Amino acid sequence: MLIFWSSLLLFTLRCNSPVLCLDPPLPTTTTTNRGEPDPFTFPEKQSTVLPDPSAFFSPTLTSSPLPTNSFFQNFVIENGDQHEYIHPYIIKSANSTLSLSYPSIFSNASFTQQIFTPDINISVSNNPNPNQTHAVSSFNDLSVTLDLQPGLRFFLVRGSPYLTCQVLQTVPISISTIHKIRTVVPNTSKTKYKINLDNGQTWLLYSSSPISLTREKSTISSENFRGVIRIALLTNADSKLESVLDRFSSCYPVSGHAEFPEPFTVQYKWKTRGLGDLLMLANPLHLRLLDDSSIKVVDGFKYKSIDGELVGVVGSSWVLKSDPVSVTWYSIKGVEKESYPQIVDALVEDVKGLDSSNLSTNSSYFYGKLVARAARLALIAEEVDHVDVIPKVKRYLKDTIEPWLDGTFDGNSFLYDKSWGGLITKQGSNDTTADFGFGIYNDHHFHIGFYLYGIAVLAKIDPVWGRKYRPQAYALMEDIMTLDKGQDSMYTRLRCFDLWKLHSWAAGLTEFENGRNQESTSEAVNAYYSAALMGLAYGDTHLVALGSLLTSMEIHAAQAWWHVKEDDTLYGADFTRENRVVGILWAIKRDSVLWFAPAEFKEIRLGIQVLPLLPITEILFSDLEYAKQLVDWALPSMKREGVAEGWKGFVYALEGLYEKEKALKNIRSLTGHDDGNSLSNMLWWIFSR
Ligand SMILES: *[C@@H]1O[C@H](CO)[C@@H](O)[C@H](O)[C@H]1NC(C)=O
Ligand SMILES: *[C@@H]1O[C@H](CO)[C@@H](O)[C@H](O)[C@H]1NC(C)=O
Ligand SMILES: *[C@@H]1O[C@H](CO)[C@@H](O)[C@H](O)[C@H]1NC(C)=O
Ligand SMILES: *[C@@H]1O[C@H](CO)[C@@H](O)[C@H](O)[C@H]1NC(C)=O
Ligand SMILES: *[C@@H]1O[C@H](CO)[C@@H](O)[C@H](O)[C@H]1NC(C)=O
Ligand SMILES: *[C@@H]1O[C@H](CO)[C@@H](O)[C@H](O)[C@H]1NC(C)=O
Ligand SMILES: *[C@@H]1O[C@H](CO)[C@@H](O)[C@H](O)[C@H]1NC(C)=O
Ligand SMILES: *[C@@H]1O[C@H](CO)[C@@H](O)[C@H](O)[C@H]1NC(C)=O
Repeated sequence: MLIFWSSLLLFTLRCNSPVLCLDPPLPTTTTTNRGEPDPFTFPEKQSTVLPDPSAFFSPTLTSSPLPTNSFFQNFVIENGDQHEYIHPYIIKSANSTLSLSYPSIFSNASFTQQIFTPDINISVSNNPNPNQTHAVSSFNDLSVTLDLQPGLRFFLVRGSPYLTCQVLQTVPISISTIHKIRTVVPNTSKTKYKINLDNGQTWLLYSSSPISLTREKSTISSENFRGVIRIALLTNADSKLESVLDRFSSCYPVSGHAEFPEPFTVQYKWKTRGLGDLLMLANPLHLRLLDDSSIKVVDGFKYKSIDGELVGVVGSSWVLKSDPVSVTWYSIKGVEKESYPQIVDALVEDVKGLDSSNLSTNSSYFYGKLVARAARLALIAEEVDHVDVIPKVKRYLKDTIEPWLDGTFDGNSFLYDKSWGGLITKQGSNDTTADFGFGIYNDHHFHIGFYLYGIAVLAKIDPVWGRKYRPQAYALMEDIMTLDKGQDSMYTRLRCFDLWKLHSWAAGLTEFENGRNQESTSEAVNAYYSAALMGLAYGDTHLVALGSLLTSMEIHAAQAWWHVKEDDTLYGADFTRENRVVGILWAIKRDSVLWFAPAEFKEIRLGIQVLPLLPITEILFSDLEYAKQLVDWALPSMKREGVAEGWKGFVYALEGLYEKEKALKNIRSLTGHDDGNSLSNMLWWIFSR
């Protein structure tokens, strides 16, 4: 059907129905972002605070963008000797030795944490040069390969019950432990050993060809060996488990990656060597999303983990399907007509207050929140049919967004860092703490998400503007959502999103003993949701699909690991009793504190998992019983002195999910709102419940 372009624009501006408001694709020559050179790059700048990646990445890798928030980040920053979790083991590599730990879990009411203990150390015996650091010789979505001199190559593939080491040169191997060794028993062909430790652990060692092991005190040494060694923990003495490990011991994964074959689908594929089928472990979210027909779960084959029980799954490819989410500009069910006047009153006031000449911040984060706050006003205006205010919002959005895209903003700007391949800010280019560490790749999706929201809305209400700034808009988006890899890419693949955990990490290039972390799942959801909206505005179906997929996965993961329901058994009983939501989620820790508030400030902990309040918030908090539990848990802490109005607002917003009138009264009593929120937005939310 051919419709004259400008009549479609008018239609979009005035349309209030989320279902009918299909945006026309922009008449641009590029309708997809894939496979086309990006014509725009933010100005290049050499950071004075970023580490040099060539210390750990092999030279073949450093000419392409490198990951900055990955599950193995500790291996490539500082001394590279801090441990990382690859499920079910924690791995540490230091001084030419790789340590393997099957972690115990400590849990109390304040936090839950896995404890690293070097249960098994592997190195080359009598290594003449034991102080060398490892090299990352390859990495992928689900795997990283570490090379330790001389000649040990570890295929660290996430979710493998076996640690796999290829001994590339003929050398003697040393296996040591901090525990006492009770017994070391080979089978008759000497391709399997059972190693019993005095901490109760039994480890199985498999080798691709016979290996001679002798034991002295706490060290087991081999004669010269070349080939493949695999080590796995036998989680209990059940002979059935041992036979499962035996059976799958000869097929080993060397790498794993993810593909996106269909909407709302992630497919894992592992490259394997050896004979037989591949045995891997699935976390509870995998199990929920696994497409039944694609895999076979091994009954009773289990490992414990802070993320829940890991269970054995056979197959070198898995298909994961998420619940589809429909990314919409407006509230899902629409706003009650009778409430329009109330919302319009608030809207007129909020729009009156917009003034781009006196912004109180240069911070890429807080500035982005102001942009997104204003953009909401435009969409609310469309939804309640009060389009008179839109020109002023449009002006404000242009005035605030353009300086960042043009690089004409004195206070700060986006710049391109070639060393890792990504955006930094001017303030972050010489200060690791500026912009919450944006310059060291912290929080990128949070900050960028707010700009993408503003850009999406502005491109929607002003397609001519959208067309003009499309290259800059895409550069911002691609910093966090590039799929391509290799030298032709400007940015690393999916900077924040972890394809195994199926949520994002914020942490960037800082060494942390607990691995990467993320605090605000709602801001992560906002990032991908906003990118999908931008895809709608630009008629880019690929971007809509990718944004929607990541939105949906991030929501699943938030519900699985951050949202703690009263009767959940995932975490320890004390932790579950005291915490309705995780504050900071780390690779191997669940904290009740926030980066910026103690555990007792529960309304803040709730708020940081809700903001920004958007149509998608309804899907993130679709479990109303849980929402009520969370609010009931947070309310008592609001009796404290000095609780900020902004944080109260998010508690009342969730209350509005199940007790609308009371929540409305509470919202009406507020004297202020979060800097990214407004009374208009709060009323829009309540009246669209
Ligand atoms: C590596 O060895 C050095 C010196 O022998 C020691 O100081 C350092 O603590 C070791 N590193 C680790 C992580 O064990
Ligand atoms: C939890 O354990 C840590 C470390 O021992 C301790 O500092 C903290 O006070 C404990 N929390 C509670 C609520 O007991
Ligand atoms: C390893 O480093 C330590 C100190 O960091 C040093 O004392 C030792 O001599 C080094 N060993 C070798 C073989 O270089
Ligand atoms: C094993 O390696 C760890 C470092 O991960 C080290 O602290 C420990 O001393 C080593 N133990 C043995 C017995 O080699
Ligand atoms: C020893 O164990 C390995 C691994 O399970 C197996 O392939 C091999 O056949 C066993 N050898 C004998 C003689 O049973
Ligand atoms: C900016 O100006 C507007 C309108 O004059 C005013 O309402 C608002 O409070 C001012 N904001 C700041 C941060 O000064
Ligand atoms: C923003 O940066 C500009 C230019 O560096 C400076 O003049 C201004 O004071 C800064 N504003 C704030 C709120 O920090
Ligand atoms: C970063 O550079 C700016 C401008 O040159 C300077 O004012 C500021 O003090 C520097 N910050 C740090 C942390 O070095």
